[in-house]
Amino acid sequence: MIETADTEPEYDDTAIRFLEALWGEGYLSPGGPDEVDRVVEGLSLKGKTILDIGCGAGGITLHLVARHGAAHATGFDVEKPVIETARRGAARQGLERRVSFVQAPPGPLPFTDASFDVVFSKDALLHVPDKDALFSEIFRVLRPGGVFAASNWMIGHDGEPSPQMKAYVAAEGLSFAMASPARYAEAMRRAGFTDITVRDRNPWYREVAR
Ligand SMILES: C[S@@+](CC[C@H](N)C(=O)[O-])C[C@H]1O[C@@H](n2cnc3c(N)ncnc32)[C@H](O)[C@@H]1O
Repeated sequence: MIETADTEPEYDDTAIRFLEALWGEGYLSPGGPDEVDRVVEGLSLKGKTILDIGCGAGGITLHLVARHGAAHATGFDVEKPVIETARRGAARQGLERRVSFVQAPPGPLPFTDASFDVVFSKDALLHVPDKDALFSEIFRVLRPGGVFAASNWMIGHDGEPSPQMKAYVAAEGLSFAMASPARYAEAMRRAGFTDITVRDRNPWYREVAR
């Protein structure tokens, strides 16, 4: 489990280089900028303040500002190597004044109440075991009327994973705490979210993985 910033990082420099080779500079998850565009499709981010939870190497945080016109984006992650990579990316793109990257241990988000218009996350929430605490924190930092938009690896059912899924998780060597879409929706509703919609990206990812 990812415990603190001082324990051995799961996403160390080798993992970052490997994933960037697959998905593009600053991207640690499938689909690159095109998939990010799909996640925020229909939302107007222009002039908004955004929190990107589990920002990794920062490519997405930068994209939300450079491509979608966010006024400011804060990338948050629990690990140091990814945040250092993200800061270098911001400097290379000359976006230091419109993005900030924050690293802090897992737990309550290190932001004040109602400080963001939009909370975004891509393929990071599966690492957080306590879904109720997670969404109560996301709801807390969102302004009233704010939006949460995310992509996330989920599992078809809660409870014991299948032997195949266990083998997959072991092969990945990462601390996954996957939950079903229903479990996520329940945590979101408990936190106070309304108008929850879910899009199944399995058919797309199956092809990518092949
Ligand atoms: C697969 S990477 C995705 C990074 C980035 N969102 C992307 O799509 O390129 C997952 C990220 O989640 C981060 N992470 C793990 N546990 C977390 C937590 N409790 N809170 C925030 N981020 C976390 C990891 O350090 C890692 O950078």
